[in-house]
Formats: sequence, structure tokens, C-alpha cells
Amino acid sequence: MNNSELCAKELQYEMNLYGKRGIALERGEKEFVWDIEGKRYIDCNTGVGVAIMGHAHPAVVSAIQKQASALMTCQSPFANTERARLLERLSMLFGTPSKVFLCNSGTESIEAALKLARKKTGRKAFTAAMNAFHGRSSGALSVTFKEKYRAPFEPLLGPVVRTRFNDIESLKTTVTSETAALILEPIQGEGGIRPATQEYMKAARDICTDKGALLICDEVQTGSGRTGKFFAYEHFGIRPDIVCLAKGLGGGVPIGATIASDEVAAFTPLEHGSTFGGNPLAAAAANAVLDTIEKDKLLAKVAADGTYMMDKLRTTLSSKSQFREVRGMGFMIAVELKIMAREPLAALLQKGVLALPAGEQVVRLLPPYIISRGSLDSVASTISEVIQ
Ligand SMILES: Cc1ncc(COP(=O)(O)O)c(C=O)c1O
Repeated sequence: MNNSELCAKELQYEMNLYGKRGIALERGEKEFVWDIEGKRYIDCNTGVGVAIMGHAHPAVVSAIQKQASALMTCQSPFANTERARLLERLSMLFGTPSKVFLCNSGTESIEAALKLARKKTGRKAFTAAMNAFHGRSSGALSVTFKEKYRAPFEPLLGPVVRTRFNDIESLKTTVTSETAALILEPIQGEGGIRPATQEYMKAARDICTDKGALLICDEVQTGSGRTGKFFAYEHFGIRPDIVCLAKGLGGGVPIGATIASDEVAAFTPLEHGSTFGGNPLAAAAANAVLDTIEKDKLLAKVAADGTYMMDKLRTTLSSKSQFREVRGMGFMIAVELKIMAREPLAALLQKGVLALPAGEQVVRLLPPYIISRGSLDSVASTISEVIQ
């Protein structure tokens, strides 16, 4: 089958949720993927920031192969070496005595955080930012901003109060003594790659503490090193009460994690759980990812190469009339245009670069941490070719 035949087959049998971009991906290596017709692409889409080690990274592949032939499932009442190691590492990364809940996706990590906040505070209300995206299961959807995603499924969890992102005055009136938790992405991802300001995250921390509300950082997209620090909140000199991870943590194997400080981790047995959460296969993949980040000093690489790429894009694109600005942190990069991003994204794909939108006018780049400078240069010059 060729690209269009495979897309047509999926469209015939898959629920009508995604649409197709016209190619079928068959294999990957490092920062490259190949479609079924043998064409090569530089992958700055990475399954929306999942393939942080690139594709077929030997350390991740070998950890998965080894664990698959040893033990793939091990429900949490039974301990397991890989899971124990991952739990300890995530707790240590959080940097204060803490407990971890392992699950399988971003939305599940948010569900756990919201339930935990209600359990711990005995309050019902949540405050969430305008333009936030937190997932599509009912709890996570309740705090997601887009009316279009929520409306068909109301009533959802409530009350949810919307606060203007990066507006401290708005926080002062929307986080109250009724609020169980304020949930924030340190950099809004789906909302267009919009970083919080230093003052805003600090104020969010202080106001939550003052009102007895919990601060949840949704680091599903920003976490696991994407911004050049393991957690993006570290850039702001604060620590939330709960942090949510998923996407890149398993290097491609589905995994999510909710980490909460000891005082906040108030679940009692069977109040929450997951059949697949913490399975040894995903835990082994995540351990290989964390080992590789440490061994190859990838956080420093992401920080340096992110700055390099953003500078390069600014220089290359500054004279183009369709270009508005470049912003981001580390390898979470937005090229905002004055036109809709759909056509430039299609043109990039034609020229062998996979990127994705974030809102209507943003070309979003989420490269794998292992990408070479040569490939970054090539992505920058291809973007320059497709933008007038
Ligand atoms: C910030 C953020 N939170 C939550 C989610 C939901 O994650 P998942 O698609 O794994 O459920 C996403 C997915 O894009 C996200 O970007």
C-alpha cells in the first residue's frame, strides 16, 4: 500500500477524530522518520513531543526488549525492580519528600491530580487558565479552555473558574478560599507556546499558599526536559504541590505520572488506581530515557540548542513579511506567522520536515533532544523557504 491508500484505509475504519496529513510513517532512526514510500523527514513533530530520544534509540530499544522478555505486567500490589527505581527517581527529581502515581497518559495524570486536590482540601472548585489544554477525559476536559471541546459533553466537573493567563490581578480574584487547586501549564502548549512570566508563576505560588489552594503544574508537554530543565517550573524558582508528566517520559511507550508532596498525597487504598499504570515495560523505557538524559547531558544540550535554533530562526525569518515572532524555551518552539499555519505546515511536509500547529497561526517545533545542529539548520532553512 502507498501513503494515500493507507490514509484512506484508516479514515474508513477510525472514528472521525483526527483527519490525516497524507503520509504513513513506517520507521524511524534518530531525528528521522520514513514514510511507506521511502521518503525521509526530519521529525520536529515527534508524536506531539513524545519521541524525545528520537526514534529507535539503542538504549530505549534494548531496555524495552529486555523487559519484554522478562516481565511486561506486574500489578502494583506486587513490587518490581524497574517500577521501584522509576518511583524513587521521579520522587527525587521533584526534590522534596513526595509520592508518585503512575498511569498511562497525560489526561490520566491530570485526573489523578484533580481528584487528589479535592481529596486533600475538601473543596470542589478549580481555577484554570484561559487557552489552557489539559486533556480530554471528563475531569481534564473540565479545566481545558476551548468551548468547542467541552460543550458537547457538559455537564463536566465543576465549578471551574477561568483566569487570564499571565495576569496576576485576575489570579487574585479567581483563586479563593473555595478553590481546591489552580492548574497551570508553565508554558501553554496547545494554546500557542506561551511561556508564563517569572512574576506570574511566583504570584501563583504565593496566592495558592495564601488561600490554602493547591498549585498543580501540568507538565505533560513541558516536562521530562523539553524546556532544558527536567520540570519547566524550575525556571521560575517555585515548586508546585502536584506536577503531572506524560508524553516524552517513556520515549514513546505510553506512561503518565502524577507527583505530589507527602503532605498532599492524601489518597487512601483503592481511592484511585490503574490496571496498566506502572507496568514494568513502561517503567523500563522511562528508566532508559532518564539514564540517557543524565549520561548524555541532554538537558544542557536542549537548553543550548534551543537558544541556537530560536536565534537562527529569528535571523533567517526577520525580513519575511509573513513572519511575526519566534518564542519558546528549549525545544518547545513557536514560529508565529501573520497567516494561517496550515499551508506552511503542508509545504514543510512536502519538503521533508514534520512540524505541527499550536493554535491557528503558529508552526510548532518539538524536536527530539538528540537532534543534530545540522538537522536544526536544515529545518530553519526549509522554514525560510516556505514562508514569504
Ligand atoms: C499540557 C497538556 N496536558 C495534557 C495533555 C493530554 O495528554 P494525553 O493526550 O496524553 O492525554 C496534553 C496533550 O497534548 C498536553 O499538552
